[in-house]
Amino acid sequence: MFHKVLDIQKIRQDFPILNEVINGKPLVYFDNAATTQKPLPVLNALTRYYEHYNANIHRGIHHLAEKATSAFEASRHKIQTFLNARHVEEIIFTYGTTDGINLVAQSYGRTFLKEGDEIIISTMEHHSNIVPWQMLCEEKGCVLRVIPINDEGELLMDEYEKMLSEKTKFVSVVHVSNALGTINPVAEIIEKAHAVGAKVLIDGAQASSHIDIDVQALDCDFYVFSLHKLYGPTGMGALYGKKDILNAMPPYRGGGEMIKEVTFAKTTYSDLPYKFEAGTPNIADVVAAYTAVEYVETLGKKQIADYEHELLVYGTDALNTIGGLRLVGTAKEKVSVISFVMDGIHPQDVGVILDQQGIAVRTGHHCTQPLMQRLGIPGTSRASFAVYNTKEEIDKLVVGLERVKKMLS
Ligand SMILES: Cc1ncc(COP(=O)(O)O)c(C=O)c1O
Repeated sequence: MFHKVLDIQKIRQDFPILNEVINGKPLVYFDNAATTQKPLPVLNALTRYYEHYNANIHRGIHHLAEKATSAFEASRHKIQTFLNARHVEEIIFTYGTTDGINLVAQSYGRTFLKEGDEIIISTMEHHSNIVPWQMLCEEKGCVLRVIPINDEGELLMDEYEKMLSEKTKFVSVVHVSNALGTINPVAEIIEKAHAVGAKVLIDGAQASSHIDIDVQALDCDFYVFSLHKLYGPTGMGALYGKKDILNAMPPYRGGGEMIKEVTFAKTTYSDLPYKFEAGTPNIADVVAAYTAVEYVETLGKKQIADYEHELLVYGTDALNTIGGLRLVGTAKEKVSVISFVMDGIHPQDVGVILDQQGIAVRTGHHCTQPLMQRLGIPGTSRASFAVYNTKEEIDKLVVGLERVKKMLS
């Protein structure tokens, strides 16, 4: 099958920040798992909104309010298509992945889970998919269970199956690990959870920019992601939930927008999706999210994934040539994330010396402290690639790491 080949140099021109000079060197940005950079169309969408139709949504009848409202709702339709959700009202705007998980834990969890019920997560969860469930367990007396991993950073699916029982009421797992890059077999996880009657949330924070997502094919009950990891703005994300489940859930936050009628005696709530969108939302960023998704669609998810895979293979081979460097996370199914440790060198020192050469990587526990404990390391250095990265930049990383070695070992 013919795949359009991406013109990476042309794509790079869409990202003005890539022209920055850091410590006298051209920026090499390898911290994409933390947040991706934003292309001009997204930056322009933000400016255009503020320059031409900034207004509060849903309430006004004047021209600007109507224009802002229709752009805001167009974004909801865009994300519906992006996730292949059946109904547009199944898309709830949130402040990001963390907010989406907290919404589900607090609204669904506090209503439908009770003492003794089991919630399953995995060893490789981000703190944002651990702490909300721990808070719920403390309050409700639920039991948190954790799927173990092997040394390559893959879930032990046999152990998962053994954990499942009629006590399992909720499973919440990450689609793609931010620390290791592992792609988890979420379709299988969902199917097995459903077989015992449990509901499933998938944390798609790292998956949305790399993998095609089809929530109907997956049959997940909830799916969450953040736009800032998908070339979009910070401070916004989306929660997908199956309509009947969202309808059965109480509101998460109370306030304006989420009501039908308020009296001091009683308040009735809006229908989906507004029931879960109290207060003035992050309008500009939601509007620009449309453009971010469109940008990814125009390049093509498949083309992006193929190119990033090329970078992953190239980077993995290149880093493997460096003596004393060990890759952390070598799953068979991976996105373009390379975590590593270097003999006798603290990850933070790696990050500082690379930064002096204009290379941005992330170091530390990557908000996955329990995963680091399982791996027996305090943290890693992590280079994560996006569609605008190049093999030449990876070559610079290798030179940089050789310098780290020379200076510190
Ligand atoms: C796997 C995963 N889950 C959740 C989050 C939290 O996302 P946000 O900070 O956008 O809410 C992140 C962010 O790094 C992540 O990588």
